[in-house]
Amino acid sequence: MQPIRLGIIGFGTVASGLVSILATQAHGSRAKIAQTFTIQKIAVRDLSRPRVVATGDIPLTDDPFELVQDPNIDVVVELMGGTTLARDLVEQAIRNGKHIVTANKALLALHGNELFALAEQQGVQVYFEAAVAGGVPIIKALREGLIANDIDWLAGIINGTGNYILTEMKKPGAVFEQVLAKAQELGYAEADPTYDVEGIDAAHKLTILASLAFGIELAFSRVYTEGISQVSADDVRFAQAFGYEIKHLGIAAKEPSGYSLRVHPALVTKTVLLADVNGVMNAVLVHGDQVGATMLYGPGAGGAATASAVMADLYDLGRLWQAGTSHFVPPLGRYTADLKATATILNIDEIHTGFYVRCLVEDHPGMLAAISQTLADFDISIEHLHQEPISHDDQANQALLAFTTNKVREATFNLALAKLEALDGMLGKINKIRMSDF
Ligand code: NDP
Ligand code: HSE
Repeated sequence: MQPIRLGIIGFGTVASGLVSILATQAHGSRAKIAQTFTIQKIAVRDLSRPRVVATGDIPLTDDPFELVQDPNIDVVVELMGGTTLARDLVEQAIRNGKHIVTANKALLALHGNELFALAEQQGVQVYFEAAVAGGVPIIKALREGLIANDIDWLAGIINGTGNYILTEMKKPGAVFEQVLAKAQELGYAEADPTYDVEGIDAAHKLTILASLAFGIELAFSRVYTEGISQVSADDVRFAQAFGYEIKHLGIAAKEPSGYSLRVHPALVTKTVLLADVNGVMNAVLVHGDQVGATMLYGPGAGGAATASAVMADLYDLGRLWQAGTSHFVPPLGRYTADLKATATILNIDEIHTGFYVRCLVEDHPGMLAAISQTLADFDISIEHLHQEPISHDDQANQALLAFTTNKVREATFNLALAKLEALDGMLGKINKIRMSDF
């Protein structure tokens, strides 16, 4: 039997992990399949860069188009990242009849609708297990393992770098920039780490999960996106005092009037499983109408963990190679024509949630009463409250105030917040973080 001939674009964190795994499992022994794989060529940006994994006699090129045009390559494994060049390469590879395996969530979130449709026309497969939650097999679980279910909601920690930062920042003396640099060194972060810190990477992943869960087209531009950059050490401390951890969550939920798709920091009750997901670990909690709540947990980033997911795609491909392409499961679990194109996606203003609030106030009698009256005017009540006098000389008579509220429509809460910010004695902008129900 001829081996499946791979062309790998990129030779960084994930691709190095893949080449290592392929070197030890080249004969498919781990997956008990007869199909074998061979790497025909690897494309890199800089041919002079030293490589951490030996390539033996595998040729390297700095022209990735060589791979997508090469008739001796069956499968293009895109592990380069980005959405411009990567899109051209993947599109050309599909047009040239090559199957695709990719870890590139940004590419799929932005251009997946067209790429999946094109792949269907060309009779090739696009695999992307590594694109969401690194080594956690959430794609296959949602697409195949939970196929009997109508998914009601899912909520997950889906960015390893962000979770690593939030976890490390709880340690005394931790400095954000140093923690982020460590995440980069460990190979967790995106080429532009703003994508991790500002929630964009999580939004890419949530776009893919929501499409799989609800059978809707990929709708990245409709995902409400907020990162962790506004979460302070004070917030983490106050949340803990109230019995919560702060986690960055991706939430996709079916609501009576549409779908809610959002990524943002959230206060998670300490006693629930998601609160205990730390470091680079990811977890996705999925609620299906038949199975109830199911959680997948594991490393969300890093070379070996992510390459494990890429390899799972290759083994799937290897099995179906023998069975014939008619056995392929559609990448999003449905053919693209069957995806809902006109799904209503709710604006964040329409979401109902509790809030955590932190503000700096003048510490004088009546301040708390004014705050609680303003909230009461909007039918909002305070659930937990913590006040801390500021001890620096130049900030005498000031206090840091943190409180949580009952559930309220976000639009209503924002009106109340504007009134709070206008109160006499309110100093500066108020920070709010949503509370999680999951
Ligand atoms: P790296 O930055 O480590 O590697 C990127 C690779 O792409 C490098 O080898 C680089 O070449 C190569 N490359 C860049 N531009 C070009 C070009 N124009 N032509 C040819 N090669 C090029 O990225 P990662 O391995 O971390 O990530 C790869 C993909 O996997 C991304 O889409 C990322 O989002 C995704 N991903 C990453 C995870 C992780 O934990 N790191 C986890 C899950 C998904 P050179 O080495 O010469 O610079
Ligand atoms: N930068 C991403 C993360 C890589 O930290 O989760 C895995 O997708």
